[in-house]
Amino acid sequence: MSGRISIRRPDDFHLHLRDGEILRQVLPATVRQFARALIMPNLLPPIVDAHAAEQYRQRILAACPEAVEFEPLMTLYLTENTTGRDIVQAAEAGTVAAAKLYPAGATTNSDSGVRRIEAIRPVLDRMEAVDLPLCVHGEVTDPAIDVFDREEKFIDVVLEPIRKWNPDLRIVFEHITTAEAVSYVRSNSPAVAATITVHHLIINRNHLFMGGIRPHYFCLPLAKREIHRQALLAAVTGGEAMFFLGTDSAPHTESAKLNPCGCAGIFTAPVALSCLAHLFEEAGSLSRLEAFTSENGARFYRLKLNSGHLVLEKGNSPLQFRPLPVGNESIQVFDPGFPLYWDVAAPV
Ligand code: NCD
Ligand code: ZN
Repeated sequence: MSGRISIRRPDDFHLHLRDGEILRQVLPATVRQFARALIMPNLLPPIVDAHAAEQYRQRILAACPEAVEFEPLMTLYLTENTTGRDIVQAAEAGTVAAAKLYPAGATTNSDSGVRRIEAIRPVLDRMEAVDLPLCVHGEVTDPAIDVFDREEKFIDVVLEPIRKWNPDLRIVFEHITTAEAVSYVRSNSPAVAATITVHHLIINRNHLFMGGIRPHYFCLPLAKREIHRQALLAAVTGGEAMFFLGTDSAPHTESAKLNPCGCAGIFTAPVALSCLAHLFEEAGSLSRLEAFTSENGARFYRLKLNSGHLVLEKGNSPLQFRPLPVGNESIQVFDPGFPLYWDVAAPV
């Protein structure tokens, strides 16, 4: 069966591009589908001030294929040393679209993150005052808490206290994975919104152990039980305004993934819209794809909706995605476990 839809050019509100050669290799997959992306700051060292954000933005633009219109939206990485001045400078210069809270130790390159949330209260106050959105990696890091419960726990231990301290602070609960997060976001909208990834709409925790251990399905937060995946799918295909796309596409080389202590992160960028069109079509909600990819997020961030459209076409033969070469290494593309027929046709 063939098909064709045209949607407003989409945005990816959570993307890891890395730097150097990896940046150059992974960026084309994003710019072919997305007009803008919110770029995560967890480089080594992290992007902690407006100057570093601006330099990184220039490196991304320099790596863009020619004749491509792409706008990287930059973020600041919050540490316990971030000052109110850092926030004001970055917000006033218009250099960053948000600041990101990584609980220290929660995920890849989060060691410089925040250990005690109280330590950044003055910074949160300042963000609320200048209306700079806060993006949160929503997992507690207490090793005594089961890894599958860390997101739910984060709601009570971190998110709700922040909400009480700063009720007007706009917060994005990033890459949510649980039914509890879905209902928390629903009941705290419009101050709170959430990004949802492509892979968390496709895999549940069984995929991690299908016939053996599957490092390419390892990401943080971990995929949860099937009932949680169903809750995420219902939230996005229902067209609710507080949920929008953030792929969390997170490239790592094969040697970093296939390692006794392998890295968390799934590289989904090349297949993002193909997977989403497949899922929305299967749910009978193709007409709601555009809200999720191209409207809800821009409205939350108070950005203009993109002009221009993107055509997605459904062909008759399954798409093939090859690993990307990086030096003498490679980066595997996410395998959804089913054939993909939808692809980007051409911008119009
Ligand atoms: C991300 C990365 O590799 O930078 N990894 C991941 O599993 N999602 C970091 C993050 O967003 O947690
Ligand atoms: Zn991420």
